[in-house]
Amino acid sequence: MATSRDRPATARHSAVGADTHSDVGDEDIQHTSESALLTAGWRGMESSRPDALFHDPLAAGLAGERGLRIARTLPDGAWVVAIRTVLIDGFIGSAISSGIDTVINLGAGMDTRPYRMDLPAALHWVEVDHRSLIEGKDAQLSTEVPACSIERVGLDLADHVARREVFDRIWARSRERWSSRKGCSVPSTWTRPEA
Ligand SMILES: C[S@@+](CC[C@H](N)C(=O)[O-])C[C@H]1O[C@@H](n2cnc3c(N)ncnc32)[C@H](O)[C@@H]1O
Repeated sequence: MATSRDRPATARHSAVGADTHSDVGDEDIQHTSESALLTAGWRGMESSRPDALFHDPLAAGLAGERGLRIARTLPDGAWVVAIRTVLIDGFIGSAISSGIDTVINLGAGMDTRPYRMDLPAALHWVEVDHRSLIEGKDAQLSTEVPACSIERVGLDLADHVARREVFDRIWARSRERWSSRKGCSVPSTWTRPEA
C-alpha cells in the first residue's frame, strides 16, 4: 500500500481541510494551520534576497526553523508568494485610498501587514484563523507595535454560526471593508455579508 512517503513531494497547502496531511519532502504538514508556517517561510526567504520585492522582518521568526526548512524544500513557492504579496499590498493600498476603514484577513496565518505596511492608524484590521494559531501568533507578536489596531479572532471558519456572529459584529462597526481569504477551507460565498 502506498504511504505518504511514496507520494510526490508537493505541498497541497491551500484550500484544504483541517485534517489534510501534505507531504513536503521529509516534513509533513499535519494540520492546515501549519501551512501558515510555509507561507511565512517563503516570505522570509524573499525578504532575505538582496533585491527583495518586499521586506517582512517578522516572517522568518514566525515561520520558525520548521517553516523555513519546509519552505526551502519548495523554493518555487517563494516567488509565487512574493508576487502575490506585492499585488495584494497594492490592492489594500488602493482600497484604503478609496475609503475603507476595516480589513478582514480570513485565514490570516502569519501575515504581518499591519506591522510592515504604511497603514492609517485609524484602520481596523481583523485577522481570523484557527484558535491555536491565533493564540500562538498573539504571544509571538506581543512586543511588536502595529501601524493600526488589530483584532485577532480564533475561529473555525467552516463553523457557519460562529462566523456569522463574528461577521455581524465586524459589519456593525465598519463603514467599508475589504476582505481576503487565501487558503481557507470554506465555501466561496462566505466573505459576502449575507454568507
Ligand atoms: C496557506 S495559509 C495562508 C496564510 C496567510 N493568508 C498567508 O498568506 O500567509 C492558509 C491559512 O488559512 C487558515 N485556514 C484554513 N482553513 C481555515 C478555517 N476553516 N478556519 C480558520 N482558518 C483557516 C489556516 O489555518 C492557514 O493559516
